[in-house]
Amino acid sequence: MTYYNLNNGVSIPVLGFGTWKAENGEIAYQSVLEALKAGYRHIDTATIYKNEESVGRAIQDSGIPREEIFVTSKLWNTNHNYGQARQAFEESLEKLGLDYLDLYLIHWPNPKPLRENDQWKIRNSEVWRAMEDLYQEGKIRAIGVSNFLPHHLNALLETAKIFPAVNQVRLAPGVYQEEVVDYCREKGILLEAWGPFGQGELFDQEEVKEIAARHEKSVAQIALAWSLAEGFLPLPKSVTTSRIKSNLDCFGIELSQEEREILKRITVKSGAPKVDEMDF
Ligand SMILES: NC(=O)c1ccc[n+]([C@@H]2O[C@H](COP(=O)([O-])OP(=O)(O)OC[C@H]3O[C@@H](n4cnc5c(N)ncnc54)[C@H](OP(=O)(O)O)[C@@H]3O)[C@@H](O)[C@H]2O)c1
Repeated sequence: MTYYNLNNGVSIPVLGFGTWKAENGEIAYQSVLEALKAGYRHIDTATIYKNEESVGRAIQDSGIPREEIFVTSKLWNTNHNYGQARQAFEESLEKLGLDYLDLYLIHWPNPKPLRENDQWKIRNSEVWRAMEDLYQEGKIRAIGVSNFLPHHLNALLETAKIFPAVNQVRLAPGVYQEEVVDYCREKGILLEAWGPFGQGELFDQEEVKEIAARHEKSVAQIALAWSLAEGFLPLPKSVTTSRIKSNLDCFGIELSQEEREILKRITVKSGAPKVDEMDF
């Protein structure tokens, strides 16, 4: 596993293991255990995935030293004030059975109830202050955001004392959010790519299949190689042992500039989320 350097100097494995929809219990437990056995050293979970307990148990049972595993969780939308954010963080930590997190993210910038009168701006500022305090107290090694577009980041930066290290957004071949990508690159915020397989849509895409055949690789491996070539940090999810293993075989694939452009421009129907209109 190779690493990126976050803007606070912390190293982060260039690929993480996604766990959304990996059901708490045997499924999440076994898939995280398999992932760690296969060589993943970075696990992405969130309060809303409701699987932190199983993820944590797998981390403990893996026998891998804690400091060798990078663990991310995310603050859910119902905890958008200072006290709630701190409490939600402690609950995540407890469920995971850990005494610190490597990365903690604000999951969404503007949950629906906070859109009236732009309340989200004040709430994000409060939540960020809680996260900054937890960071200063040594309970989180890096703090960041998720699904933030440039205007959400600009608002946050008006009061932030610590710069976000990461923005986790939907990015995949065919889902290239140019504005947010340019913004984060310019400001030194690492882009994590959720839904790196277009949440499954890429597997039926002819252009991707052609490129995969040319390289004698799977569509999944090509999608991850594209993400890495763009300097993103992909978070592939699978609960299937063979896929967990084969997805990891995405390093060292040399995509040409032309192939990268084709992958960038293909069409994925579901596209990027309309963050300011999400129904939650
Ligand atoms: N911050 C956010 O708002 C946000 C939102 C969504 C996701 N995420 C994070 O990003 C991670 C990845 O996103 P995602 O789970 O939505 O989608 P994804 O990783 O793009 O796609 C997952 C789907 O692809 C399938 N799959 C995996 N490898 C495959 C392979 N080699 N061949 C064929 N199918 C394969 C999986 O099936 P099986 O599992 O059945 O193998 C699953 O159905 C999440 O798990 C989560 O950690 C974050």
